[in-house]
Amino acid sequence: MSILDRHKHSWDKLGEMDPQWAILTDPKGKFGKWDLDEFFATGENQMANVLAMAEGLGYPKQRETALDFGCGVGRLTRGMAKYFTHCHGIDISESMIAKAKELNQAFPNCQFTVNFADHLRVFPDSQFDLIYTAIVLQHLPTRVMIKSYIADKVHSVAIAEETFEPRFPVELTKSGGYFGKPYFSGADVGTFTSRRVTTRSAFAMEYTVECPYCNKRFKRSKYNTKLNEHKDRYGNRCYGRVGYMV
Ligand SMILES: C[S@@+](CC[C@H](N)C(=O)[O-])C[C@H]1O[C@@H](n2cnc3c(N)ncnc32)[C@H](O)[C@@H]1O
Ligand SMILES: [Zn+2]
Repeated sequence: MSILDRHKHSWDKLGEMDPQWAILTDPKGKFGKWDLDEFFATGENQMANVLAMAEGLGYPKQRETALDFGCGVGRLTRGMAKYFTHCHGIDISESMIAKAKELNQAFPNCQFTVNFADHLRVFPDSQFDLIYTAIVLQHLPTRVMIKSYIADKVHSVAIAEETFEPRFPVELTKSGGYFGKPYFSGADVGTFTSRRVTTRSAFAMEYTVECPYCNKRFKRSKYNTKLNEHKDRYGNRCYGRVGYMV
């Protein structure tokens, strides 16, 4: 069995046993106890946050087609449905996709597909106006695999006016100036670095952790990615409990 086979097998099993809880691991939702309305409302809030942030950057240029990579049962694909004409959710797990189809019948512009390949070449280049993924890449078994999906995804984004050269491990839109080592150059297969910012004195380090769900940022004096209970910008409870360093 290849690494990808084993990985797929785990997600197939999780999707059969307790899909909602495998996606959002709130203890209250364990053993199938997630309230479905509440569960899907988290996806709507999350996509509202993402779209507000993207709009601030001037993206997406149009709202025709969106991709939700690693869609699970379609929590975020459904959240995209009111913003885009067509929303594609793809996932490696057949059980997750079966559940996504079952739970999202009322959203005819959401389409769900199994993708059992370590790339996204199933989609033509420049097809998507938005590609979004949450709580997926950190589950992938190797860095090489993460990189292969990201490179393919970047090619699948329609960038209307300018050439876009990604410089960070995950960077699908242009961001501010950064003069670090380019991510896609050299033989290195991707070392994930977190930026350490020196503040106050030469000895006091400050870290910034971002919640992957609501994108709120928190300052830390120690390297710690755990997140306490918090609310998103609309005052709704956020389920992000592990952040990433920015
Ligand atoms: C924690 S869940 C998140 C689901 C969804 N993104 C959300 O936030 O509601 C991770 C999902 O990623 C999927 N996944 C894991 N590896 C994948 C891969 N290589 N390709 C596509 N989907 C993958 C899993 O099957 C699972 O449904
Ligand atoms: Zn959050």
